[in-house]
Amino acid sequence: MAAAQAMEVYQAIARRRTIKKYRTDAIPRELIERLLDAAVQAPNHFQTLPWRFTVLTGAAKDGLAALRRQQVAERMDDTTTPGAQTKLEETYRKMAGAAALVAVTAKHNADPLIDVENSYATAAATQNLLLAATAEGLASYWSSGIATYPQARAYLGLPDDEHIIAVIHLGYPALELPARRRTAREFTRWIDEAPMPVRA
Ligand SMILES: Cc1cc2nc3c(=O)[nH]c(=O)nc-3n(C[C@H](O)[C@H](O)[C@H](O)COP(=O)(O)O)c2cc1C
Repeated sequence: MAAAQAMEVYQAIARRRTIKKYRTDAIPRELIERLLDAAVQAPNHFQTLPWRFTVLTGAAKDGLAALRRQQVAERMDDTTTPGAQTKLEETYRKMAGAAALVAVTAKHNADPLIDVENSYATAAATQNLLLAATAEGLASYWSSGIATYPQARAYLGLPDDEHIIAVIHLGYPALELPARRRTAREFTRWIDEAPMPVRA
């Protein structure tokens, strides 16, 4: 691979941040399609192609945001206090304020190992989507709070053999966040000598 291409990947990785405030501009459909085409290049054992995408814009997006607000309200003792009202409004705004939402779902498999690998592959596809969005100058946010809400499954029309891995919020950024400066050193072990004899 040419060095210039490799740098683009490293830059997108470094620049991707969770951003929850967006301008009101719509995202062209072809651009979202490009992100999804990047997503489906993810590695996938046995080529089960487990990922599915449901793209919501306009009133469909606002409806999911209203469901998320309902889910959060159901867990509150009193929804009428000013604090609760602010929290509920913020919950709604976080989703409805995105230009588009992409629900990323994974197909279940009867084999337990393939089932978990399907989830991993779909998470890898989700990260591809986030990095492609970053490279395209879009803000993104991986949310999962609504994943276990039965009403959300019904709203999205999900078949029984699919589960939600992520709801990705997309939009043109209304703020910038600095790139992270994290290194892997403290999380890594290097082993050069065989730690025990192994029979061939
Ligand atoms: C599986 C997964 C689920 C997440 N769910 C949520 C969520 O429900 N709400 C939220 O605010 N952030 C969620 N996030 C985003 C993380 O909070 C975010 O990545 C983290 O704060 C680090 O910030 P960064 O993405 O800017 O590096 C999720 C991230 C992952 C990988």
